[in-house]
Amino acid sequence: MDLNFHYVSNRTLDKDVKTNIINPDILHNYEIIKKKKNYWGIFLRHKNEIIGTTLVAYQNKDNTDFLLLASVFIDEKYRGRNLCKDIVKQTILKNQIRNKTNLIKVVIAGGMPILKCIICVFKELNYTIKKYKTKHENTQLLQTILPKTAIKFELSNYDNDIWQTLFFDKK
Ligand SMILES: CC(C)(COP(=O)(O)OP(=O)(O)OC[C@H]1O[C@@H](n2cnc3c(N)ncnc32)[C@H](O)[C@@H]1OP(=O)(O)O)[C@@H](O)C(=O)NCCC(=O)NCCS
Repeated sequence: MDLNFHYVSNRTLDKDVKTNIINPDILHNYEIIKKKKNYWGIFLRHKNEIIGTTLVAYQNKDNTDFLLLASVFIDEKYRGRNLCKDIVKQTILKNQIRNKTNLIKVVIAGGMPILKCIICVFKELNYTIKKYKTKHENTQLLQTILPKTAIKFELSNYDNDIWQTLFFDKK
């Protein structure tokens, strides 16, 4: 496939990205990035069509900086081709270059496909998986868990419609 990745922030000049967005979900992410200063994302182009996006934001809670992976979206026609992995990997590599924080927060709202995708990417990039240690959510109190534990939680969460919050950290 003829693929290209584009970094978009509220400061980038990217008319060629905007004019190639057909999908409304992708356009929605683009518009958020253009309105908000601490948001950015990676947009995936196939020929003349933008077919995928990530949306991330720098945040601080409990005196801890982290990057929130707020959204990952691949156009339905292109799913199941590992493009989620490609676009998440490009996003994390870009974050490493920006060098603000290596702690990434992800709220798993899309079930098993997104969980499998991010576990695979963060494993390849040597990040450890963490979750809140206590029921009271404190970003300073995180414990390391194994990928299989996150998958086990997801299987029971899906039945109860609970969204799992995970952190990925690289020391
Ligand atoms: C989640 C999403 C981005 C995945 O995109 P994708 O390009 O199809 O994903 P990939 O091809 O990279 O596959 C990632 C993993 O999910 C698995 N997967 C894909 N579709 C699946 C499904 N329907 N059920 C279970 N696993 C699935 C793949 O097998 C792969 O895992 P593997 O390597 O262990 O086989 C895409 O489905 C999407 O845009 N969904 C709507 C938005 C959404 O839910 N975003 C996440 C919000 S947190």
